[in-house]
Amino acid sequence: MEKELKFPEGFLWGASTSAHQVEGGTKNQWTEWEKKNAERLAKEAGSYWQSWQRSKFPEMMKNENYISGRAADHYNRYEEDFDIAKSLNHNAHRFSIEWSRIEPENGKFDEKEIEHYRGVITALRERGMEPFVCLWHWTNPLWLEEKGGCESSEFPKYFARYAKLMAEKFGDSVNFWLTINEPMSVISNCYLQGIWPPQKKNSSSALRVYGTLSEAHKKAYKEIHAVSENAKVGFAHIVSYFEAYNKDSYLDNLAVKIAEYFGNKKFLNMTKGHNDFLALQYYFHNRVSFFGGVKNENESVTDLGWEIYQEGMYHLLKWMKGYGLPIYITENGLADADDKKRTAFIADGLKWIHKAIEEGVPVRGYFYWSLLDNFEWDKGFWPRFGLVEIDYVTMGRKVRKSALEYAEICRKNGLETDIEKKSQKTLDR
Ligand code: BGC
Repeated sequence: MEKELKFPEGFLWGASTSAHQVEGGTKNQWTEWEKKNAERLAKEAGSYWQSWQRSKFPEMMKNENYISGRAADHYNRYEEDFDIAKSLNHNAHRFSIEWSRIEPENGKFDEKEIEHYRGVITALRERGMEPFVCLWHWTNPLWLEEKGGCESSEFPKYFARYAKLMAEKFGDSVNFWLTINEPMSVISNCYLQGIWPPQKKNSSSALRVYGTLSEAHKKAYKEIHAVSENAKVGFAHIVSYFEAYNKDSYLDNLAVKIAEYFGNKKFLNMTKGHNDFLALQYYFHNRVSFFGGVKNENESVTDLGWEIYQEGMYHLLKWMKGYGLPIYITENGLADADDKKRTAFIADGLKWIHKAIEEGVPVRGYFYWSLLDNFEWDKGFWPRFGLVEIDYVTMGRKVRKSALEYAEICRKNGLETDIEKKSQKTLDR
């Protein structure tokens, strides 16, 4: 029989974006890196991706795929985009402020850009959407990058000054602040694996960045609270669900403990006492083997080849309950250009979140990643995460079918179990 899974009253429903990925026209360390690396990335795509991915997304072999450029032109079209989000019954929205626009030179703040973001926040409020404002989604102003970027011991000081200014300017209309987006993605991709700028493979740099980013968060937390006592401040934390590849193996279980410590717990513990809520971002389920690293079976995958395993969110939520703080899911999404798996993905995720809530986990909101198709960092434009499809030639917006299904969930503050069953079939395929 059809049953409705109801969510708590006041639950926040929405989607996320980040400045560099959708605004267009940014100038930061990523834009510089893109210019230098586009040709290499286009060449490497030919051997990196599987043949089904290459034939489905031939644009991955072109240089322009790797240049953020106009992105989704959201800087100029945010009102139109928020009209769409409102029409989809979202009552909250997460976005990020581009620090390099606000402070293009050390200590010089651009009033025109501050006004721009005032406009963004007002546009959300006018449409009845609660703004979740992220202060740093990986992009640094160039002057800061020259000083060593995230590795610089001055990073926390400069970040806190910028956070204080943002709280002074917008504290009257913003309740929820996210300081740093996914410190672990930065530590791993920029400083350990050497994939993202500044492409280091150096464990002492990585350890230093645990320090600078956690310090930056704590300082910003204090500055924001000094301005707005009632503000709610957190950071966006990517957490992965780790399981032992061989459940009976002592060493594989030990590898899980190590991965959990460095990946999920360490940064959280370093910021203890400086979080008003936890912001969970979930994409990965990893089966860890002591000798073989990560060995995933990847049965049902996204266009990026990432395994779909929404149950992982449930286990992570149960663990996070132990921190005794309200939890928001500030990102969860998939690249799915054909929009065949998105409805099932969302519905299945919400089923697991609902189960966690029923078992006492204080989850207060869900933000799908992403509202719009966007620039997916070193992968460029081909992965399509959006509820809304972007035509990058005309900049036209087209609401995907899954966005309408999600809109019904938002409207009802609940999920019909038959959509979940229907959609589970699609996932199983
Ligand atoms: C990031 C987003 C990114 C998404 C999908 C998250 O880790 O915060 O910027 O687009 O994952 O890869």
